[in-house]
Amino acid sequence: MRDEGPKRLSRRRFLTIAGGAGAAAIATQIPFARATPGPLRITGYPFSLGVTAGDPTPDGAVLWTRLAPSPLSGDGGVPDVTVPVKWEVSKNDAFSQVVASGEELAVLGDAHSVHAEPTGLQAGSEYFYRFIAAGEASPTGRFKTAPAPGTSPSNLVFCFASCQQYEHGYYTAYKHMANEGQLDLIIHVGDYIYEYGTNLYTSTGGNPRGHSNREIVSLADYRERHAQYKTDPDLQAAHAAAAWLVTFDDHEIDNNWAGEVPEEGMPHDAFLKRRAAAFRAYWEHMPMRKAARPTSSGIQVYRRAQYGNLATFHVLDTRQFRSDQACGDGSRSGCDARLDPTRSLTGNAQEAWLIDGLDSSPATWQVLANQVFMAQQDNTTGAGESFNMDAWDGYKANRDRLLNFINAKGGLNPIVVTGDVHANWAADLLADFSNPQSKILGSEFVGTSISTTGDGADTGNAARLTENPWIKFNQQQRGYVRMTLSGTECRGDFRVVPYVKRPGAPISTRKSYVVQAGHPGLQDA
Ligand SMILES: [Fe+2]
Repeated sequence: MRDEGPKRLSRRRFLTIAGGAGAAAIATQIPFARATPGPLRITGYPFSLGVTAGDPTPDGAVLWTRLAPSPLSGDGGVPDVTVPVKWEVSKNDAFSQVVASGEELAVLGDAHSVHAEPTGLQAGSEYFYRFIAAGEASPTGRFKTAPAPGTSPSNLVFCFASCQQYEHGYYTAYKHMANEGQLDLIIHVGDYIYEYGTNLYTSTGGNPRGHSNREIVSLADYRERHAQYKTDPDLQAAHAAAAWLVTFDDHEIDNNWAGEVPEEGMPHDAFLKRRAAAFRAYWEHMPMRKAARPTSSGIQVYRRAQYGNLATFHVLDTRQFRSDQACGDGSRSGCDARLDPTRSLTGNAQEAWLIDGLDSSPATWQVLANQVFMAQQDNTTGAGESFNMDAWDGYKANRDRLLNFINAKGGLNPIVVTGDVHANWAADLLADFSNPQSKILGSEFVGTSISTTGDGADTGNAARLTENPWIKFNQQQRGYVRMTLSGTECRGDFRVVPYVKRPGAPISTRKSYVVQAGHPGLQDA
């Protein structure tokens, strides 16, 4: 089954709510409206990829859309013209209390993406937004600004997700995430797209839908892939439901890439061109700041979001600055290079930035939005050991420096949220993993995939838990994790769907843990 094509979501609903007269008045002010004759006319609904907010601050956020009436065509269906795009932020979804508005110019060089950055909003408040271009109104999105500095809201609810191979299943989990209601944030920790050609990986026993193009290499390829993913109505619903805080992992560029090193076979210069194209398309399709626009030297993805005195979100980039995987990657035993203190997962600058941010944070909780498994995980049952060279285990000295700082500082309440491995896991982070009785410093919640590897099963790897006693839970269905933070407690709910190869699965909470502030360690909820 191929993808279902673009959906218009709530546009009709919006037009009804806003009132026909208002919408008509708006349309007459916009150049290149449907009624405009001549070659500049845009044919088709321009907001086929939906809308999203991102990177909230106490007084604003980024508002994103991309004009693409033909999402899978090279230019998205918009010719090489500059299109004015109006945006509005309102206290209600009827847009009768507009508190901020402006205009951005969408240009072909940015794939007609829009990254509007309203300011002057009230802290800790809910807002609604929309775009208007070419006589059409976008779907309505919602977000909340971050709390004011120095304040501590009674709680903060966010969901985090990862790994959404479009071919492997439907994004039913996102539909449920959109319906969680009142989310402060949605965090994506990577594998938002997959780079593979059409249906190369059918280990799911048959994929329900397919990629539109070959393995993606060029800027046009990456744009088409992002656009195809964003046509999904469930993904669009989650994007419209809350502000997102995004970071990439490997598949946004190339499986298991590391710094300037591709997975396999590509000449260095060609890989750098490919990486630059991937970064560019990523920024164009994500609600990231204009200041994060990639340059010739890379993209700034590691950053923080401050939620008053309740939480600091440290968003990591564990791909762009890492040393190449040790011992040829994969799961390895006896690999001394993984212990080499000169090798790094984060790069030295990001490591210093992270430790500095932990040191100076005013917040109760330190949330690390992280890509790959941080807790040690020995993959060999019984005698002997083997570790995943692509995860923090492959960069042990880097992890030791981070955990040693957390141990020495004390009271940080670190909560690591992770993706990558297409299964749910919960683990404690120890001062010394070689001694299971050593001090617990924090906890890691590893969220399963949204769709990657298909339906999955309600099973877990019991031998792995026995082998690694700080790892408390493993389960292998699809879904996401909902996190609720208060001044005294962090709760994580593993939300799962029983199938993704057909639409319509229900959602349920498979397992919950709590962590008490000041008392590190997972407790059964
Ligand atoms: Fe993945």
